[in-house]
Amino acid sequence: MSYYLTTPIYYVNSTPHIGHAYTTITADILVRHHKQRGEETYFLTGVDEHADKVARVAAEEGLTPQEFVDRIVPAWRELAPSVNAEPGYFIRTTDEGHKRFVQEFLQRIYDKGDIYQDVYAGLYCVGCEAFKTEEELVDGKCPDHGIEPEWLEEKNWFFRLSAYQDRLLRLYEERPDFVLPAFRANEARSFIAGGLRDFSISRATQTWGVPIPWDPDQVAYVWADALVNYLSALAYAPGADLGLWPARHLLAKDILRFHCVYWPALLLSAGYEAPRQLFVHGYLNLDGRGISKSLGNIIRVEELTDVYGVDALRFWAARAVTFGQDADVTIQGFHDRYERELANDLGNLLSRTTALIARSGGEIAAGSAGGGQLAARATALNEEVAALFDRYEITAALDRIWSHVRRLNQYVEQTKPWKLARDPERTEELAGVLYELADGLRVVAVALAAYIPETAERILAALGQPVDHAWENVAPGRTVAASGIVAAEPLFPRVDEPATAA
Ligand code: MSP
Repeated sequence: MSYYLTTPIYYVNSTPHIGHAYTTITADILVRHHKQRGEETYFLTGVDEHADKVARVAAEEGLTPQEFVDRIVPAWRELAPSVNAEPGYFIRTTDEGHKRFVQEFLQRIYDKGDIYQDVYAGLYCVGCEAFKTEEELVDGKCPDHGIEPEWLEEKNWFFRLSAYQDRLLRLYEERPDFVLPAFRANEARSFIAGGLRDFSISRATQTWGVPIPWDPDQVAYVWADALVNYLSALAYAPGADLGLWPARHLLAKDILRFHCVYWPALLLSAGYEAPRQLFVHGYLNLDGRGISKSLGNIIRVEELTDVYGVDALRFWAARAVTFGQDADVTIQGFHDRYERELANDLGNLLSRTTALIARSGGEIAAGSAGGGQLAARATALNEEVAALFDRYEITAALDRIWSHVRRLNQYVEQTKPWKLARDPERTEELAGVLYELADGLRVVAVALAAYIPETAERILAALGQPVDHAWENVAPGRTVAASGIVAAEPLFPRVDEPATAA
């Protein structure tokens, strides 16, 4: 079974920030882990270009929408590599292959009889690119974007979403893990049960978008265009094919309805299978608020990675925020975790272990494994972490790995290898302890490879071990004999307190 995972495709009206990086990083962690388990994986990310707000920003800057997106897309293309994420393809909704696919997709729905023409009038929030009801507004403004929606009235093409209510409810009933976490599935299900309104899939007053095949004077509504990316990419992206469908989608709660309600209905109408699974994660809040340009509290990826390195950011994304929940985050919290966990718990463990090995001749003797408690825990780690990953619980999985790191530190305190080293009678005991430590670090490195890939390689290299991330290596006793081990450079060097910490 292949593991095909997507991130939302991001709007290009401004440049990426830490919130977007969060989704891209967590997606990459999931994909890398499944790759370690020998599964065929495909990872898709990209950008959503045909939004009305994109056309507006372009106009403000005196550019055509196409000129504008062509200038800003490189910054988005950089997002994944800047956090060491490795998507198989970066999709743009302006790709010819995508546009053609959207037209075919909409035509299928039209031919099915699920599209009709009507006049729509309502309040439209350009931030959400969606109509809003009066009840959804707070003081007349969109609560997510803080702007007043505009009155929009046009003759549009409508999708018969209401006709899919029963089928969607059945989908949720038959597949209890269709949407995770469970409370998000409940949220989607009660929205469906509350009654579904047909929605307009075209825009008459816009020109920036994919022309409606049977009515080229109108363009596709941005969501009816964007969601299709998850499928269209498979038709033309290198290394992909439609056999990878159905996908697993990763997204945040802000776009739950589009993904968990509209998208499955559109797919069923067009004659495709519903997505395989959707995981809805929470929102990172900075200073108690969302992160956005309009709030003026954007953190850019490089602000953190230039100082702390990419792995520190990836680690923090999985560790500081319980995956699936909202979280309040601070730079100070990031810094503290870097020092306490990465530099001390893990970094010092490697420094101490390699220094001790170096001092006692620089050799790791294979096969001195003591069995015992550490080995039993390492064995259990393999299955437990994999099971948590199967439920997208990347924070719980990392907790589990980290408890092993802490256990190894306790082992150092208990066995006091520096004392053993002073006693010529106890060299064998010392070799056993050092093997246990090296083996434990190797297990931890492989288990952490999806989260902090560069660090994992550095740990394995420092211990003279082959860089092989296969998941079966998360098992005790597989450390091979090595010589010439020297005291390792600190994995996570000291960093000054953040300036904003006061
Ligand atoms: N273009 C649409 C998605 C179309 S998918 C077919 C869109 N784009 S967006 O640029 O606004 O990206 C929203 C997504 O970015 C969220 O669902 C989430 O994945 C990520 N995040 C943006 N800010 C975030 C936080 N502050 N916290 C967590 N995730 C955040 O919606």
